[in-house]
Amino acid sequence: MLSTLQPLANPFPEPVNIRLLLKRDDLLHPHISGNKWRKLNYNLLAARDQGFDTLLTFGGAFSNHLYATAAAGQAFGFRTIGIVRGDELAQAPRNKTLQACEAYGMRLHFVSRTAYRQKEEAAFQAGLIAQVGPCYILPEGGTNELAVRGTAEIIPEIIAQLGTVPDFVCCPVGTGGTVAGLARSAPAETQVLGFVVLKADSGFSLQIDEYAAFAPTKLNLIQDYHSGGYARTTPQLIEFIRTFEQKTGILLEQVYTGKMLFGIYDLARRGYFPEGATVVAVHTGGLQGRSEELTMPIP
Ligand SMILES: Cc1ncc(COP(=O)(O)O)c(C=O)c1O
Repeated sequence: MLSTLQPLANPFPEPVNIRLLLKRDDLLHPHISGNKWRKLNYNLLAARDQGFDTLLTFGGAFSNHLYATAAAGQAFGFRTIGIVRGDELAQAPRNKTLQACEAYGMRLHFVSRTAYRQKEEAAFQAGLIAQVGPCYILPEGGTNELAVRGTAEIIPEIIAQLGTVPDFVCCPVGTGGTVAGLARSAPAETQVLGFVVLKADSGFSLQIDEYAAFAPTKLNLIQDYHSGGYARTTPQLIEFIRTFEQKTGILLEQVYTGKMLFGIYDLARRGYFPEGATVVAVHTGGLQGRSEELTMPIP
């Protein structure tokens, strides 16, 4: 499936010297949007080929990945099980994300934060399988080799749509699976910029090197636009997103795509990009996690 490549007029009064386009992966599917569609695609095919009818995965209470896996399970006929970080949440009222997961038929299991840290360990996973039966296990955030194979398809699409090679392709970075796929398929003339949405010292490890197979010079991880850390915001970020949305009619959210675009416009104003550079930003979706703060009237 092909997402559109949309040219963007500068919505801000300050001039920028780049040609900016948005790769609208957010429009790939209403609920399995953005990088989730790319990451799940080959995994679902593998699960089906290997005869599994159940997907099991992991996430926090606001996880876009849990939400997309639940939606994909319903759409493509898999049972889904979500292992959720935080056993204190089991009795609490469900937030919007977890409510939607359950509405898609996902069975939620809440585990303590200590247990959750073992999610990659074979013994822990074997224990889960013993409880729930055979299942295809997707890692937290959905990043694995098949996910990277999916995200590696974005740049060839962009090149075919543009009819030329872009100078820069940008995406937000959480676990690193999306940016690893971009860097894997980027031609030598294209710089990949990953806007990291969490603080370097947050204890969260990027899973980029293991999927690398690309020249390190092609990838630049930009760490200056996390706005205080994962899921943190600043008034400037919120103001930026509101203005962008009002002027372009394109919705963003505050955890990933808002931070990336804030960073791109800021870098452009500071003269980071060469004059006239073609810059493509990948809209990785995630709108289910859009803050209500963005829809409230400006005080
Ligand atoms: C909407 C959205 N954009 C970007 C990312 C970051 O992707 P990755 O984890 O592959 O770095 C995520 C989360 O994983 C996401 O939900």
